[in-house]
Amino acid sequence: MYTQSFNVPDAPVAAAGPREIKPVLTQEQQQAMDRAQSQFDRLIDADGKIEPKDWMPEAYRKTLVRQISQHAHSEIVGMLPEGNWISRAPSLKRKAILIAKVQDEGGHGLYLYSAAETLGTSRDQMLDALHTGRAKYSSIFNYPTLTWADVGVIGWLVDGAAIMNQIPLCRCSYGPYARAMVRICKEESFHQRQGFESLMVMMQGNAEQQAMVQDAVNRWWWKCLAMFGPPDADSTNSTQGMRWGIKRISNDDLRQKFVDATVPQAKVLGVTLPDSDLKWNETRGQHDYGQIDWDEFWATVNGNGPCNKERLATRVKAHEDGQWVRDAALAYARKQQQRLQQQQEAA
Ligand code: 3HC
Repeated sequence: MYTQSFNVPDAPVAAAGPREIKPVLTQEQQQAMDRAQSQFDRLIDADGKIEPKDWMPEAYRKTLVRQISQHAHSEIVGMLPEGNWISRAPSLKRKAILIAKVQDEGGHGLYLYSAAETLGTSRDQMLDALHTGRAKYSSIFNYPTLTWADVGVIGWLVDGAAIMNQIPLCRCSYGPYARAMVRICKEESFHQRQGFESLMVMMQGNAEQQAMVQDAVNRWWWKCLAMFGPPDADSTNSTQGMRWGIKRISNDDLRQKFVDATVPQAKVLGVTLPDSDLKWNETRGQHDYGQIDWDEFWATVNGNGPCNKERLATRVKAHEDGQWVRDAALAYARKQQQRLQQQQEAA
């Protein structure tokens, strides 16, 4: 298990459960372990990078697998709400852009699964956790895309929030994750701009199109604010994640940056953000904003959002339908290997 269970500290196992048998280390082994831990701590303190073959504490490895696999799942499940509109895009141009964008998200998922695999977990394990509902993925993808404007709003706000959260991950202490994020952020930045541009075109259209954009903004705004995760006081993983240089900026600080960056963009677009408490606070030099519905957020995270069941069922079906591709790829790889072996034997 590499989801919620990863939060369990390396502490004594509960009395009722099976006892964890810890290997007894010799004095030399203990000293080697202490040296490895000091070397790891020094690297983290110096803002260096940890690479797959470096020694790392088990809890650091588990935290990374938890976060990177959740992130990968989010990219893959994130293809579904927009994929829904590929066959109904209003023009060939918009259809081509949307196909490319959804394909990019699939690619992001694959880079991230590869990054998680360097930590010793298999793709099959990660996919199994997703398909059996044990793994988390971003709450935002459990809401429906009701109109074409939702596609633009996902680009502008959802990808905008994703970039805000993901730019700091380019400086994550784990090398493969940080490097994957550099490429992902470049592509996400294009996604955000195309969403904004698509909405801008609609806002310059007729009253019905403008109302469609405003309606989509009304439905997505609060979900995007919640997407940054629980308030810092309730964020169970933040302190350790920041100590290890995995997480660089807290959930609340990123949320605030997103609000401050988005308000002027909404003005340019001509839409109203649906929050009567949203106003500039001269003293703080930031915007104040209203209350997020955290009960609704947790219900969605825990599987009871409007589309959780549909998303998971679609994902499982896509995986099952793709079995023949995996079988064919494996058969081809086996054939190639046999051919190579025969050539080597003949030489
Ligand atoms: N949806 C679902 N679960 C969420 C969540 C959200 N929006 N925000 C937080 N959670 C979960 C956490 O995963 C954690 O669960 P766990 O302990 O069982 O694993 C729990 O709520 C407590 O939250 P914490 O703040 O303690 O957790 P983290 O310190 O890990 O912070 C995070 C959460 C900010 C999402 C962080 O994990 C992160 O930065 N992850 C990488 C980025 C990512 O996954 N983004 C998802 C969106 S990707 C995307 O949008 C695709 C793009 O194409 C649009």
